[in-house]
Amino acid sequence: MTHPQDSGLSQHTLGSIRRMADEGRPFACLTCYDATTARWLARGGVHSLLVGDTAAEVILGFDRTVDCPLDFLIHLTAGVKRGAPTTVVMGDMPFLSYHTSEADAVRNAGRFLVEGRADIVKLEADSSFAGTVRAITRAGIPVCAHVGSRPQRAAMTGGYASAGRTAADARGIIEDAAVLADAGASMLLVEAVPDEVTTRIMASTKVPLIGIGAGPACHGQVLVLQDLTGMSDAPPRFAEPVASLGPTIQGAAREWVERVSRRAVGGVRYTMKPGEADVLSKAGPSGR
Ligand code: KIV
Repeated sequence: MTHPQDSGLSQHTLGSIRRMADEGRPFACLTCYDATTARWLARGGVHSLLVGDTAAEVILGFDRTVDCPLDFLIHLTAGVKRGAPTTVVMGDMPFLSYHTSEADAVRNAGRFLVEGRADIVKLEADSSFAGTVRAITRAGIPVCAHVGSRPQRAAMTGGYASAGRTAADARGIIEDAAVLADAGASMLLVEAVPDEVTTRIMASTKVPLIGIGAGPACHGQVLVLQDLTGMSDAPPRFAEPVASLGPTIQGAAREWVERVSRRAVGGVRYTMKPGEADVLSKAGPSGR
Protein backbone atom coordinates (compact mmCIF):
# COMPACT_ATOMS: atom_id res chain seq x y z
CA MET A 1 0.00 0.00 0.00
CA THR A 2 1.39 3.45 -0.91
CA HIS A 3 0.89 6.16 1.68
CA PRO A 4 0.46 9.73 0.37
CA GLN A 5 3.08 11.00 2.83
CA ASP A 6 5.64 8.72 1.18
CA SER A 7 5.28 9.90 -2.43
CA GLY A 8 8.22 12.32 -2.10
CA LEU A 9 10.70 9.77 -0.72
CA SER A 10 13.92 9.18 -2.69
CA GLN A 11 14.23 5.79 -4.30
CA HIS A 12 17.31 3.96 -3.00
CA THR A 13 18.80 1.11 -5.00
CA LEU A 14 21.91 -1.02 -4.90
CA GLY A 15 23.23 1.31 -7.61
CA SER A 16 22.56 4.49 -5.63
CA ILE A 17 24.17 2.96 -2.54
CA ARG A 18 27.19 1.98 -4.62
CA ARG A 19 27.42 5.58 -5.92
CA MET A 20 27.26 6.95 -2.38
CA ALA A 21 30.10 4.62 -1.39
CA ASP A 22 32.17 5.62 -4.41
CA GLU A 23 31.62 9.30 -3.64
CA GLY A 24 32.52 8.87 0.03
CA ARG A 25 28.99 9.68 1.27
CA PRO A 26 28.10 7.34 4.17
CA PHE A 27 24.81 5.44 3.88
CA ALA A 28 22.62 4.36 6.78
CA CYS A 29 21.15 0.92 7.38
CA LEU A 30 19.07 -0.38 10.26
CA THR A 31 17.52 -3.70 11.05
CA CYS A 32 13.76 -3.80 10.70
CA TYR A 33 11.20 -6.55 11.05
CA ASP A 34 7.77 -5.11 10.20
CA ALA A 35 6.01 -2.88 7.68
CA THR A 36 4.90 -0.12 10.04
CA THR A 37 8.36 0.49 11.44
CA ALA A 38 9.84 0.21 7.94
CA ARG A 39 7.56 3.03 6.80
CA TRP A 40 8.79 5.34 9.55
CA LEU A 41 12.43 4.43 9.02
CA ALA A 42 12.11 5.19 5.29
CA ARG A 43 10.53 8.53 6.15
CA GLY A 44 13.57 9.15 8.35
CA GLY A 45 15.80 8.74 5.31
CA VAL A 46 17.36 5.34 6.07
CA HIS A 47 18.83 3.97 2.83
CA SER A 48 18.68 0.25 3.52
CA LEU A 49 16.79 -2.05 5.89
CA LEU A 50 18.20 -5.37 7.00
CA VAL A 51 15.67 -8.00 7.99
CA GLY A 52 18.19 -9.70 10.21
CA ASP A 53 18.16 -13.11 11.81
CA THR A 54 18.33 -11.06 15.02
CA ALA A 55 14.54 -11.35 14.59
CA ALA A 56 15.01 -14.63 16.50
CA GLU A 57 16.06 -12.53 19.49
CA VAL A 58 14.16 -9.26 19.27
CA ILE A 59 10.91 -10.60 17.77
CA LEU A 60 10.71 -14.23 18.89
CA GLY A 61 12.52 -13.92 22.23
CA PHE A 62 15.18 -16.58 21.67
CA ASP A 63 18.68 -15.88 22.95
CA ARG A 64 20.48 -17.03 19.78
CA THR A 65 20.15 -16.04 16.12
CA VAL A 66 20.45 -19.69 15.01
CA ASP A 67 16.84 -20.18 16.14
CA CYS A 68 15.51 -17.96 13.34
CA PRO A 69 13.09 -19.87 11.08
CA LEU A 70 13.53 -19.37 7.33
CA ASP A 71 9.85 -19.04 6.36
CA PHE A 72 9.26 -16.57 9.17
CA LEU A 73 12.13 -14.34 8.03
CA ILE A 74 10.96 -14.43 4.41
CA HIS A 75 7.49 -13.25 5.51
CA LEU A 76 9.03 -10.44 7.58
CA THR A 77 11.20 -9.41 4.63
CA ALA A 78 8.16 -9.07 2.38
CA GLY A 79 6.41 -7.01 5.06
CA VAL A 80 9.37 -4.66 5.38
CA LYS A 81 9.53 -4.18 1.60
CA ARG A 82 5.79 -3.45 1.48
CA GLY A 83 6.27 -0.87 4.24
CA ALA A 84 9.36 0.72 2.64
CA PRO A 85 9.34 0.11 -1.12
CA THR A 86 11.85 2.92 -1.70
CA THR A 87 14.58 1.42 0.50
CA VAL A 88 17.05 -1.33 -0.30
CA VAL A 89 15.79 -4.33 1.66
CA MET A 90 18.30 -6.98 2.63
CA GLY A 91 17.07 -10.44 3.63
CA ASP A 92 19.33 -12.27 6.06
CA MET A 93 19.80 -15.94 5.27
CA PRO A 94 19.32 -17.82 8.54
CA PHE A 95 21.35 -20.67 9.96
CA LEU A 96 21.32 -23.80 7.75
CA SER A 97 19.56 -22.05 4.87
CA TYR A 98 22.83 -21.90 2.85
CA HIS A 99 25.22 -24.31 4.58
CA THR A 100 23.96 -27.69 3.40
CA SER A 101 24.59 -27.32 -0.36
CA GLU A 102 24.94 -24.69 -3.06
CA ALA A 103 21.61 -25.84 -4.50
CA ASP A 104 19.86 -25.20 -1.16
CA ALA A 105 21.59 -21.83 -0.91
CA VAL A 106 20.42 -20.73 -4.38
CA ARG A 107 16.88 -22.01 -3.75
CA ASN A 108 16.59 -20.23 -0.39
CA ALA A 109 18.22 -17.02 -1.62
CA GLY A 110 15.74 -17.11 -4.50
CA ARG A 111 12.86 -17.35 -2.02
CA PHE A 112 14.08 -14.14 -0.37
CA LEU A 113 14.13 -12.45 -3.78
CA VAL A 114 10.77 -13.75 -5.04
CA GLU A 115 8.59 -14.31 -1.95
CA GLY A 116 10.39 -11.80 0.29
CA ARG A 117 10.80 -9.10 -2.39
CA ALA A 118 14.37 -8.59 -1.08
CA ASP A 119 16.83 -6.54 -3.13
CA ILE A 120 19.82 -8.47 -1.80
CA VAL A 121 20.51 -11.37 0.56
CA LYS A 122 23.10 -11.45 3.32
CA LEU A 123 24.94 -14.50 4.53
CA GLU A 124 27.61 -14.97 7.18
CA ALA A 125 30.70 -16.28 5.44
CA ASP A 126 34.39 -16.88 5.30
CA SER A 127 36.41 -17.66 2.19
CA SER A 128 35.17 -21.28 2.19
CA PHE A 129 31.75 -19.90 1.12
CA ALA A 130 33.13 -18.40 -2.12
CA GLY A 131 31.44 -21.16 -4.17
CA THR A 132 28.11 -20.44 -2.47
CA VAL A 133 28.38 -16.72 -3.21
CA ARG A 134 29.31 -17.52 -6.81
CA ALA A 135 26.34 -19.87 -7.21
CA ILE A 136 23.83 -17.37 -5.75
CA THR A 137 25.10 -14.45 -7.82
CA ARG A 138 25.18 -16.68 -10.90
CA ALA A 139 21.44 -17.10 -10.38
CA GLY A 140 21.08 -13.31 -10.48
CA ILE A 141 20.68 -12.72 -6.76
CA PRO A 142 22.87 -9.97 -5.23
CA VAL A 143 24.78 -11.04 -2.11
CA CYS A 144 26.16 -9.18 0.89
CA ALA A 145 28.86 -11.26 2.58
CA HIS A 146 29.04 -10.82 6.37
CA VAL A 147 32.55 -11.32 7.76
CA GLY A 148 34.30 -10.74 11.09
CA SER A 149 32.22 -11.70 14.09
CA ARG A 150 29.58 -14.17 12.87
CA PRO A 151 26.84 -14.77 15.44
CA GLN A 152 25.63 -17.97 13.71
CA ARG A 153 28.96 -19.52 14.79
CA ALA A 154 28.56 -18.60 18.47
CA ALA A 155 28.43 -22.30 19.45
CA MET A 156 31.96 -22.69 18.05
CA THR A 157 33.37 -19.49 19.52
CA GLY A 158 31.73 -19.71 22.95
CA GLY A 159 29.28 -16.83 22.46
CA TYR A 160 29.06 -13.52 20.65
CA ALA A 161 32.54 -12.00 20.50
CA SER A 162 34.64 -9.43 18.71
CA ALA A 163 36.96 -10.61 15.94
CA GLY A 164 40.21 -9.64 14.27
CA ARG A 165 42.00 -8.52 17.40
CA THR A 166 45.13 -10.55 16.68
CA ALA A 167 47.17 -10.03 13.52
CA ALA A 168 46.49 -13.62 12.42
CA ASP A 169 42.73 -13.32 12.92
CA ALA A 170 42.70 -9.88 11.28
CA ARG A 171 44.58 -11.24 8.24
CA GLY A 172 42.03 -14.07 7.96
CA ILE A 173 39.07 -11.65 7.95
CA ILE A 174 40.71 -9.31 5.41
CA GLU A 175 41.39 -12.34 3.19
CA ASP A 176 37.77 -13.60 3.63
CA ALA A 177 36.43 -10.21 2.53
CA ALA A 178 38.66 -10.09 -0.56
CA VAL A 179 37.82 -13.67 -1.60
CA LEU A 180 34.07 -13.14 -1.16
CA ALA A 181 34.13 -9.85 -3.09
CA ASP A 182 36.05 -11.62 -5.87
CA ALA A 183 33.42 -14.37 -5.83
CA GLY A 184 30.78 -11.77 -6.71
CA ALA A 185 29.48 -10.30 -3.44
CA SER A 186 28.13 -6.86 -4.29
CA MET A 187 28.42 -5.69 -0.69
CA LEU A 188 30.34 -6.67 2.41
CA LEU A 189 29.37 -6.34 6.06
CA VAL A 190 31.92 -6.56 8.83
CA GLU A 191 30.98 -7.00 12.48
CA ALA A 192 32.83 -6.19 15.70
CA VAL A 193 36.37 -5.67 14.49
CA PRO A 194 39.06 -3.05 15.19
CA ASP A 195 39.38 -0.10 12.78
CA GLU A 196 42.61 -1.55 11.34
CA VAL A 197 40.67 -4.49 9.90
CA THR A 198 38.03 -2.18 8.39
CA THR A 199 40.53 0.08 6.65
CA ARG A 200 42.43 -2.87 5.21
CA ILE A 201 39.22 -4.45 3.88
CA MET A 202 38.31 -1.13 2.26
CA ALA A 203 41.76 -0.87 0.71
CA SER A 204 41.65 -4.38 -0.74
CA THR A 205 38.04 -4.51 -2.08
CA LYS A 206 35.92 -2.30 -4.34
CA VAL A 207 32.41 -3.02 -3.05
CA PRO A 208 30.52 -1.01 -0.39
CA LEU A 209 31.41 -2.09 3.14
CA ILE A 210 28.77 -1.87 5.87
CA GLY A 211 30.07 -1.87 9.42
CA ILE A 212 28.57 -2.77 12.76
CA GLY A 213 30.98 -2.12 15.60
CA ALA A 214 33.71 -1.72 12.99
CA GLY A 215 34.63 1.94 13.36
CA PRO A 216 33.59 5.08 11.49
CA ALA A 217 35.43 4.51 8.19
CA CYS A 218 32.96 2.03 6.63
CA HIS A 219 30.93 3.17 3.60
CA GLY A 220 27.71 2.38 5.49
CA GLN A 221 26.71 1.68 9.08
CA VAL A 222 24.07 -0.66 10.48
CA LEU A 223 22.69 -1.21 13.97
CA VAL A 224 19.95 -3.35 15.40
CA LEU A 225 16.97 -1.00 15.63
CA GLN A 226 16.17 -1.96 19.23
CA ASP A 227 19.74 -1.08 20.26
CA LEU A 228 19.58 2.31 18.54
CA THR A 229 16.18 3.25 19.90
CA GLY A 230 16.81 2.32 23.52
CA MET A 231 14.65 -0.80 23.67
CA SER A 232 17.41 -3.33 24.42
CA ASP A 233 18.22 -4.17 28.04
CA ALA A 234 21.86 -4.99 27.22
CA PRO A 235 22.96 -3.38 23.93
CA PRO A 236 26.44 -4.18 22.63
CA ARG A 237 29.21 -1.71 23.52
CA PHE A 238 29.30 -0.19 20.03
CA ALA A 239 25.58 0.67 19.94
CA GLU A 240 24.89 4.14 21.29
CA PRO A 241 21.11 4.68 21.66
CA VAL A 242 19.64 7.89 20.21
CA ALA A 243 16.22 7.50 21.85
CA SER A 244 14.60 5.86 24.90
CA LEU A 245 11.66 4.07 23.32
CA GLY A 246 11.72 1.31 25.95
CA PRO A 247 10.86 3.66 28.82
CA THR A 248 8.50 5.58 26.51
CA ILE A 249 6.54 2.41 25.75
CA GLN A 250 6.59 1.49 29.43
CA GLY A 251 5.16 4.92 30.27
CA ALA A 252 2.45 4.54 27.64
CA ALA A 253 1.55 1.11 29.06
CA ARG A 254 1.33 2.58 32.59
CA GLU A 255 -0.87 5.39 31.32
CA TRP A 256 -3.16 2.88 29.57
CA VAL A 257 -3.44 0.73 32.72
CA GLU A 258 -4.32 3.83 34.70
CA ARG A 259 -6.90 5.04 32.15
CA VAL A 260 -8.54 1.61 32.01
CA SER A 261 -8.79 1.57 35.80
CA ARG A 262 -10.58 4.98 35.66
CA ARG A 263 -12.86 3.84 32.78
CA ALA A 264 -11.40 6.75 30.81
CA VAL A 265 -10.07 5.06 27.72
CA GLY A 266 -10.52 8.14 25.52
CA GLY A 267 -11.19 8.18 21.78
CA VAL A 268 -14.55 8.75 20.08
CA ARG A 269 -17.42 6.46 21.13
CA TYR A 270 -19.94 4.91 18.75
CA THR A 271 -23.55 6.15 18.92
CA MET A 272 -26.66 4.41 17.69
CA LYS A 273 -28.17 5.54 14.40
CA PRO A 274 -31.07 8.06 14.80
CA GLY A 275 -34.16 6.48 16.43
CA GLU A 276 -32.48 3.10 16.95
CA ALA A 277 -31.96 3.59 20.71
CA ASP A 278 -35.77 4.03 21.11
CA VAL A 279 -36.45 0.89 19.11
CA LEU A 280 -33.97 -0.96 21.25
CA SER A 281 -35.47 0.29 24.53
CA LYS A 282 -38.95 -0.98 23.48
CA ALA A 283 -37.58 -4.44 22.84
CA GLY A 284 -36.93 -7.06 25.51
CA PRO A 285 -33.61 -7.35 27.35
CA SER A 286 -32.24 -9.59 24.61
CA GLY A 287 -33.01 -6.86 22.01
CA ARG A 288 -35.73 -8.92 20.20
O1 KIV B 1 20.89 -10.22 11.92
C1 KIV B 1 21.30 -9.06 12.08
O2 KIV B 1 20.59 -8.20 12.59
C2 KIV B 1 22.65 -8.76 11.64
C3 KIV B 1 23.21 -7.44 12.07
C4 KIV B 1 23.60 -7.53 13.50
C5 KIV B 1 24.32 -7.03 11.19
O3 KIV B 1 23.27 -9.54 10.99
